[in-house]
Amino acid sequence: TFSSAEKAAIASLWGKVSGHADEIGAEALERLFLSFPQTKTYFSHFDLSHGSKDLRTHGGKVLKAIGNAASHLDDIPHALAALSDLHAFKLRVDPGNFNLLSHTIQVTLAIHFPAEFNSDVQAAWDKFLDFVSAVLVSKYR
Ligand code: HEM
Repeated sequence: TFSSAEKAAIASLWGKVSGHADEIGAEALERLFLSFPQTKTYFSHFDLSHGSKDLRTHGGKVLKAIGNAASHLDDIPHALAALSDLHAFKLRVDPGNFNLLSHTIQVTLAIHFPAEFNSDVQAAWDKFLDFVSAVLVSKYR
């Protein structure tokens, strides 16, 4: 569960991100694939070159799912149920990869929103992304 201060930190930064979901998402994915190249194995059917349409489209989808979770902080498991089934049963993404993506999302947020992304906001987002990841890997067993 999230404190009211954490909820405020998540909602206010999401408010800044939401209009730029494709760009922020694409950059977080690009950082993921460059820093942790093993993660590219799940996306062999995508064009992962800098600025590609696939990166933008998929980055937008990932960030919008995070936005959906940010709008349902009291019931993230329900909000992400279909996505949880998809990642566990169909995609079978190794759970360790979720921490890597959470990290590159935070780096991207820090670079684009330096004034907002102070240590309290980072701590709230880290907890939030950790919870989202836990929900997405919850059906593996
Ligand atoms: C698909 C969200 C983590 C691999 C998707 C989709 C969303 C999503 C919204 C599209 C679902 C659809 O089209 O119905 C998320 C979120 C994550 C996360 C919110 C964590 C914060 C990961 C990680 C990996 C991964 C860590 C692997 C490194 C994939 C793959 C697809 C996918 C391979 C299918 C892509 C395609 O062929 O269109 N994810 N994801 N996801 N995700 Fe994730």
